[in-house]
Amino acid sequence: MRVQLAAANWKMNLNLNEAIELAQILVKETGSLKEHQQVLMAVPFPYLMEIKKITDQHPHFHVAGQNLASTPNGAYTGEVSAEILQSIGIKYVLIGHSERREYFAESHELLKMKVDRALMHQINPVFCCGEPLSVREANQQNEWVAKQLRDSLFHLSPDQMHGFIIAYEPIWAIGTGKTASSDQAQEMHQFIRQTLTNQYGSNIADSVSILYGGSVKANNAVELFSKSDVDGGLVGGASLIANEFSAIIGSLKS
Ligand code: PGA
Repeated sequence: MRVQLAAANWKMNLNLNEAIELAQILVKETGSLKEHQQVLMAVPFPYLMEIKKITDQHPHFHVAGQNLASTPNGAYTGEVSAEILQSIGIKYVLIGHSERREYFAESHELLKMKVDRALMHQINPVFCCGEPLSVREANQQNEWVAKQLRDSLFHLSPDQMHGFIIAYEPIWAIGTGKTASSDQAQEMHQFIRQTLTNQYGSNIADSVSILYGGSVKANNAVELFSKSDVDGGLVGGASLIANEFSAIIGSLKS
């Protein structure tokens, strides 16, 4: 089975003590996981090294950045480069979250550069895509998502796309309590996999993990993750509550 992932996105939440406590509980309470099951925790930059010490205690837990710079290094005050992340042992990073696209005007072209920066430093991107409500209402979501993939990812080689991680997050479902139905999620995930198949062939497309994000909770994770093209979730709000996220980890396909 391809890799199934429960990915936490803490966003700009928790102080250091709360962060350590949450990570410790999760690592302690999660028993052994199957080979194909992985847990990511995307935490604020200042916590990366501290939380990494905790995630390193579980073979299937990994800490992740929430963002990285599109440029290699130099005079970019406040930015964090792929090289810096690599130097502290970070192996995963979120790229293109809709909040970054919207509030920080991250374009397809900029995200393409970020993907390249990450890969150059052996960091696995979790590439986020997804449409706003107006696009869904106009039934243009497939074209919208296909363009996001095409413009930021399709320059990658087949080798680079092998085992890649994509998170589909319809913007109208993020933080709203409004989840896409499992059928809506499956329909889009299948479309994404077909788009990848057209570009890279089915072997590569089948190796890509496609996560669903947008109000994933303990009470809907089993249903969402049971769909054949849904390979886990990217979780915001519910990832801040230990027993909620624990149950979400427990909902990954076995
Ligand atoms: P949410 O956030 O689970 O709170 O909807 C998901 C995300 O933004 O990644």
